[in-house]
Amino acid sequence: MAKETTLAIVKPDAVASKLVGEILSRIEAAGLEIAALRMERLSHARARNFYYVHRGKPFFESLVDFMTSGPVVLLALRGENAVARWRQLMGPTDPRKAPKGTIRGDLGTSIEKNAVHGSDSVENASTEVHFFFGGADLFEIDPEEVWRSGS
Ligand code: CMP
Repeated sequence: MAKETTLAIVKPDAVASKLVGEILSRIEAAGLEIAALRMERLSHARARNFYYVHRGKPFFESLVDFMTSGPVVLLALRGENAVARWRQLMGPTDPRKAPKGTIRGDLGTSIEKNAVHGSDSVENASTEVHFFFGGADLFEIDPEEVWRSGS
């Protein structure tokens, strides 16, 4: 199976609740590689653009307000089947329906303040990763090379 790269966002609720470390730990423990990572405060224009597919939905304006209310942590995650694995780790959108053991089930507080975002398909993953990251921002980490180098 080919390696995939998917977008993850630690949302403002989780950043404000000091859950960034917890979420990164779960990502690494699950064996997903962090190919890129950046903290950013989204502008309204950027958030509206990113969530363009949801424009016109009743929750759209509130979602944009929430996503711009504080900094987010943007990540590109890589691995075999990374899109589905990250979705599995997150759990369903609504934390009330998300099983315990998933990030949203354990750390989300409402359908809006659901701690994390993830791309919903392989096609969208590529678009979403490149919305936030250029090719040069994405690292290929070779543990063999790291351990061989130096003394
Ligand atoms: P996310 O995976 O980032 O994609 C769209 C976001 O809209 C979703 O997570 C939720 O945070 C937010 N949202 C708010 N209300 C709803 C709703 N009724 N249905 C789906 N998403 C919602």
